[in-house]
Amino acid sequence: MEQQVNFEQNKAAVVIITGASSGLGAALTRKLDATLPEDVEFWLIARDESKLSHFAGSLDHQSRLFAIDLTEYSAFVALRTALEEESPHVLLLINNAGEGCSCLFEEQDVDAHASLCDLNVRAQLAMTSVVLPHMSQGSALLFTASVAAFFPQPGFASYAASKAFIVSYSRAIREELKDRGIRVTVTCPNTMFTDFLTEGQKQARLNSYKRFGIEDPDLVAEKTLAAMRRDKAVVVTSLTGKAIRVAAKLLPTGWVVSWINRKNRTGSQ
Ligand SMILES: NC(=O)c1ccc[n+]([C@@H]2O[C@H](COP(=O)([O-])OP(=O)(O)OC[C@H]3O[C@@H](n4cnc5c(N)ncnc54)[C@H](OP(=O)(O)O)[C@@H]3O)[C@@H](O)[C@H]2O)c1
Repeated sequence: MEQQVNFEQNKAAVVIITGASSGLGAALTRKLDATLPEDVEFWLIARDESKLSHFAGSLDHQSRLFAIDLTEYSAFVALRTALEEESPHVLLLINNAGEGCSCLFEEQDVDAHASLCDLNVRAQLAMTSVVLPHMSQGSALLFTASVAAFFPQPGFASYAASKAFIVSYSRAIREELKDRGIRVTVTCPNTMFTDFLTEGQKQARLNSYKRFGIEDPDLVAEKTLAAMRRDKAVVVTSLTGKAIRVAAKLLPTGWVVSWINRKNRTGSQ
């Protein structure tokens, strides 16, 4: 991305990253920290201010911290106000923050469903809408989806559906934004052992067929940024992910969904 960016004169150049303080967001930020020109400023977003501040302290670039909860409308008001006051040139928006659920739909209450939808879907649209007016030719949008996007998944239903939404949405706006010279990429990692998963969930994955797809967030970040520079629409960072994507195109969805459900119920390997 850095080779093709137009720096607008007299405007601060900014990269905005949601979910920057840990996991994949932190890995992406560290890679950008090592490659972007030093006058680019990072705007880092997460809820926990001390964690965010500790992470920002490890970076060479200047950072502005937004300790905001993206499930709340006030977060977008704060961000829009900052953008209007500073009027920066946003080189890149990484819509990465997301939350999961690993249980049957009926086992979760309405608040958990609403929160997942607010962060994984509503916040992606709101962030994009608020930031786009500050982008121009050469800017880029990166979304974090998941291999879970490729199939409906019993035991993971709302999460997989939210990620399918992101893949669909990002591919559509990619075409809409072509005339403005703004590129859009969505990355689809497989399982990563980050704070996203509890210790119990990590152990369950190690004991199941999902152990074959585990990825390192640093490698995911590297492959994602490289693919984004090549202007790929969809990045699948693992071999297992690529196989799942092909299977989703070839196999009858009903058969696969039923197979996943049987695997979940038997807790099988
Ligand atoms: N880990 C996996 O197995 C996996 C696989 C495929 C895709 N993904 C996707 O990858 C993305 C990053 O996940 P990760 O594994 O890196 O998770 P992570 O390590 O838990 O990081 C999540 C980040 O998002 C922030 N965040 C969470 N809720 C937020 C909210 N309501 N408002 C603002 N920031 C919030 C967290 O900071 P605070 O808690 O301080 O807010 C943290 O910085 C997600 O979209 C996830 O769906 C993950």
